[in-house]
Amino acid sequence: APPIYFSAVVITAYFGFRSALVISFLLVLLVSPMVGFSPAFPLIALGGSLVAALNTKGISRQDNYAKIILSTAFINFFLTAVIGLLEKETWAIISINVAQTALSGVISVVVAIGIMPLYEMIFNTVSPLRLIELSQPGHPLLKRLFVEAPGTSQHSLMVANLADAAAEAIGANSMIARTGAYYHDIGKLEAPMYFTENQQGDNPHDLLSPLESAQIITQHPKDSLKIGRRYRLPVPILRIASEHHGTTRLRYFYHKAKEIAEKAGRELPDDKEYCYTTPIPSTPESAVVMLADSTEAAMRSSGIENIADAEKLIRSIIKEKIDQEQLKNSGLSFADIETIIDAFLQVYAGHFHERVEYPEAATETN
Ligand SMILES: [Fe+2]
Ligand SMILES: [Fe+2]
Repeated sequence: APPIYFSAVVITAYFGFRSALVISFLLVLLVSPMVGFSPAFPLIALGGSLVAALNTKGISRQDNYAKIILSTAFINFFLTAVIGLLEKETWAIISINVAQTALSGVISVVVAIGIMPLYEMIFNTVSPLRLIELSQPGHPLLKRLFVEAPGTSQHSLMVANLADAAAEAIGANSMIARTGAYYHDIGKLEAPMYFTENQQGDNPHDLLSPLESAQIITQHPKDSLKIGRRYRLPVPILRIASEHHGTTRLRYFYHKAKEIAEKAGRELPDDKEYCYTTPIPSTPESAVVMLADSTEAAMRSSGIENIADAEKLIRSIIKEKIDQEQLKNSGLSFADIETIIDAFLQVYAGHFHERVEYPEAATETN
């Protein structure tokens, strides 16, 4: 049978399971005249496409390509054998047919997987398969983060858990949010020691003016984009890395600069110089990572270990983002924001071994 499983895999990966079924069905109709309307062809082709599409759709973090390839080959093998037996073919013919259809299944799925990177480059998208690949701790960039900026590495893992839970809760793409979180701070690799999570003892900012410190720190989302491009990360991941601080202001160094200026009786610093100058989040996934990122940083430094205080802190952080107009291009609704807060709290509840009470707690604080 002509290798039509190719389309089942590629279309499921980018457009969903249903589209893949419709297109596979149309393809079978189109190809049927080419195989002389052989009655076995539509059965095998549809069976193979269904299995290929189902496996591509069901692919989750721990799965791999082998499953799609082998299952498609197997169903072809099986259906061809059954049809051969029903048609009372000789064993010789059955074996040849079986080998042919199984091989056609393997080749067509392998080609589909091979062509995906090209498709992703052209259409600026990313498949679940590529996201799984990028989520492996063995990826060279994640390895570098683990070795050169261990604090940032740990921070990113927690941000990923928060972002995944929140994205899932609002119906956004949780794999994009999670993978984006893994890579959001890779720009810190340019100067790991200037970020608190990687400092032990010495703080290099002691030797710098607040303005110099701010310049180094606000540079990191731009560096994340730069490094991510060098490593050919897909666009949705680069977007998250570049947007995760938007145009927010660095609170700590701005205050420090203001204090110094006030003491010296000098003019107050320009607050624009203490702001990030990257784009604000343009997708729900990007906004979720921004909120997860600030939540993680604030929770870690606060040392809070109960849900009530956690909720207060998280609400104040999100309010600050809204006040600084960081979420207006993200497509998040007020209802989404409440759902995100709940999702974050559930994650922390797991960490505190505490249960979040509903619905009273939610209505009380409103
Ligand atoms: Fe960051
Ligand atoms: Fe971060």
